[in-house]
Amino acid sequence: MIARSLSIRMPAILLVLTALSFGPIAGYADDYPDGCISCHVSEKLSGAAASRIDLLLASVGHSKAGERTLVIPDGCQRCHAPDDNGTATSLGKLIHVVHFRGGVENAFLKRYKGDCSSCHRMDTSDWEVVAKSGERNWGVKVGASD
Ligand code: HEC
Ligand code: HEC
Ligand code: HEC
Repeated sequence: MIARSLSIRMPAILLVLTALSFGPIAGYADDYPDGCISCHVSEKLSGAAASRIDLLLASVGHSKAGERTLVIPDGCQRCHAPDDNGTATSLGKLIHVVHFRGGVENAFLKRYKGDCSSCHRMDTSDWEVVAKSGERNWGVKVGASD
């Protein structure tokens, strides 16, 4: 009886083992492949999903330069330079603060568990951790630049 049920289950067990051993090589599912713009999709300023970045920036009085930026967050670095030598604070600092401040009341910690890999990925060409980036998910209303 035991032997019989094992042999019936064997193909299923083999399938699971195959999936486990080949899964990481085939790549893993990334819920936020383009980082910021994969998560910030809502057209409302509050609600269950994170609001579009152009709307959030406008709500805190950011200049139009934010919504004119094409690639998020790479394009933002023309002012928010990583070495802190740009005209504005480096983006890492600003973005970490807004996503991690306030403890359990913070929506990013509460809803997304503060996962670094929502925004970062390992670049396997040089083993550097980089911020994921992608084309903005809003239309052009004003002049465009990078
Ligand atoms: C996995 C989801 C997720 C990702 C990825 C993400 N964010 Fe957020 N972010 C949030 C949530 C949740 C909030 C809280 C506000 C809200 O609910 O819209 C937030 C807040 C913000 C705010 C508003 C802060 C304030 O002062 O109110 C800005 C600006 C922002 N994010 C920019 C970015 C940028 C730029 C990136 C990429 C580098 C990014 N976010 C990636 C979920 C995310
Ligand atoms: C033309 C320059 C410029 C560009 C482009 C730009 N910013 Fe800014 N940003 C500023 C300046 C100036 C400030 C205010 C001073 C500071 O915080 O360094 C600021 C402030 C911010 C703040 C803090 C806002 C607050 O009040 O808490 C966030 C967050 C931010 N920028 C995100 C972004 C993102 C995301 C992008 C790209 C979509 C972007 N910025 C593009 C110049 C720029
Ligand atoms: C909401 C998006 C977001 C999350 C979550 C996030 N980062 Fe970042 N991080 C950024 C951005 C944007 C930069 C600036 C990218 C650049 O300068 O190339 C950055 C830059 C960095 C840097 C470079 C130095 C600096 O501060 O600019 C380090 C190190 C880093 N992050 C580590 C982490 C770690 C560890 C976590 C998890 C605890 C984390 N990050 C979570 C968006 C994020």
